Parts: sequence; structure tokens; C-alpha cells
Amino acid sequence: MASTPQRDAHPSTEGPHSGTGDLADAYDVCAFDDLKLNGALSFTFRRQDKSRHGIGVFWDGEEVYAIDNLCPHGDAFLHAGDIIKRRVICPLHRAVFDLRSGECLTRFTNDVETHTAEVRDDRVWVHLPGEIPFVKDAPR
Ligand code: FES
Repeated sequence: MASTPQRDAHPSTEGPHSGTGDLADAYDVCAFDDLKLNGALSFTFRRQDKSRHGIGVFWDGEEVYAIDNLCPHGDAFLHAGDIIKRRVICPLHRAVFDLRSGECLTRFTNDVETHTAEVRDDRVWVHLPGEIPFVKDAPR
């Protein structure tokens, strides 16, 4: 299992970027090297209704992915699961999720939402239209 600390969104000292063009509603969440080192990281955003939205960001050795971080089956954080090429395995009951589609491949719980993630200039960006980073004291 990868070492996977939970992080506040926008750990960059520059704060969140909500740019224009194709980076509108995209946030610079971490250094790509940090994600590669950890395999997965978690970030908390806030929806327009003010509810918290946990996002897991994953690196499987080939691509970067972002999905909702809470397993729909229970109270497990998917970023703490095992990552195997384009898939993450829930650490609690081993449901397998496709990181590209969010589909639960083992079919015993619901699918999870996926979000666009990309690497630009050695930083990882996640697109979350209408959401803002939520700063909190997170366990490390
Ligand atoms: S909590 Fe994820 S499979 Fe049960």
C-alpha cells in the first residue's frame, strides 16, 4: 500500500489557480514529483452548497487520475488503497475501481465520479468546476 498522506488542496504557496481558457476551474494541487513519490494523495474541496468534497489523485506509473476519494461502500478513503495499472483497490473490502471511468469493476458497490487531472510544468492540476479548495487541518 502506498504511503498516502491527506493534504489540503492548493499546497502551493501561490494558492489555488483558477485560470482562464482550458485551465478555468482547474486547481494546482501538488508537485508531480510529490504525487509520483506517494502514488496517491487526497485533497478536500468545497462544493457550491458548502459541503466537503474529497478528491483522490493517483499516479499508476503511466497516467494521473482524479476520482472521488470516498468509497461508496463504506468509510474508506480510496487514496489509501493499492494502485495497480489504471485501477485502485479499496483498502477496506477490496472493491476495485477503474481510475479512468470510476466504474466499480467488482460490482458490489456504486461507481465513483471521475475528474479531469493533468500535469503541466511539473505540477498536477485537477479540474473541479464550481468548487473551491477547502483549507483544514488535515492529518499527515
Ligand atoms: S469500503 Fe470500500 S469496498 Fe467496502
